Amino acid sequence: MESDMQSSASISPGLTTNDLTTNASPFIEQAKRAGQLYIEQPYELYSAENHEAWRKLYARMLPCWDRYANEHFLKGIHSLCLNPDRIPRLEEVNRFLSPLTGFQAKAVSGYVPSFVFLDCLRNRRFPTTITIRRSDKLDYLPEPDIFHDVAGHVPMHTDKNFAEALVRFGECANTAAEMAAGIRGPDTRARYLTSVIRAMARFFWFTIEFGLMRGPDSLKVYGSGLLSSHGEIAHAIEAPDVQRYPIQLQWAINQGFEINHYQPLLFIVDSFDHLFSLVDQLEAWMKDGKLSNVAPGEPEVNEEDLKSFLHAELD
Ligand SMILES: [Fe+2]
Repeated sequence: MESDMQSSASISPGLTTNDLTTNASPFIEQAKRAGQLYIEQPYELYSAENHEAWRKLYARMLPCWDRYANEHFLKGIHSLCLNPDRIPRLEEVNRFLSPLTGFQAKAVSGYVPSFVFLDCLRNRRFPTTITIRRSDKLDYLPEPDIFHDVAGHVPMHTDKNFAEALVRFGECANTAAEMAAGIRGPDTRARYLTSVIRAMARFFWFTIEFGLMRGPDSLKVYGSGLLSSHGEIAHAIEAPDVQRYPIQLQWAINQGFEINHYQPLLFIVDSFDHLFSLVDQLEAWMKDGKLSNVAPGEPEVNEEDLKSFLHAELD
């Protein structure tokens, strides 16, 4: 499952039905053509097949969550009152979510450039995909869908400490854009930003998407890429060939990753307070210039992400 910080959806030809299937939704294509990033969730467009995909995904994750998910996620999914049989209405999700942490899921038409995505987090808005994968192709999807976003990410946003860490991470984007604005010369500025965006994308990947947390008896999963992946969640905890290390910031920001196979290396945090302190450290390093030259490699930083930082409207 690709990270929200770096997905770019492709458009498949041959749109047939007017539902909300990933890469085959006329409604979404229309919104993109019109340049609308933030959209409504046209709930009536979900087809029976769309709901069936949600039902199947939810049913097969449930026992995995009981076994491998961290307690904050379990509590969160309970407090959101998601219906196992029907795709959730974001409006209803938000009714349960907002009073807990101020976070809200906000429907988007597709790819959100990094700065915009992070700035939404800073404002407690989570850009949320509303399409869902095909019900006969549940396993691999390179881009996020509503199951990944709402069943994988949003339950974590019900937790106060996690939510604070996420907001803090969003604030780092503002700091990065401010730092970049002070750099003379477009090439030097672009080089700086490429490195900082790469460092942040790696951090996001190894924590928010694929993070493990130390539990009282065993390791648990808190990363949303794992929480929404039926195959990988067990693999992350059980497989003997996965390397699992206590997180070190220096390592994580210099460590490349590939999105098209199970992760061979995962990092462990002690708690969400620990995660928060790592985000603090990330920002302090940014200010000290320690993110200006991280190891090259994955992920690639695309032009759109770079531009989103260069043209950021700062407070
Ligand atoms: Fe994600």
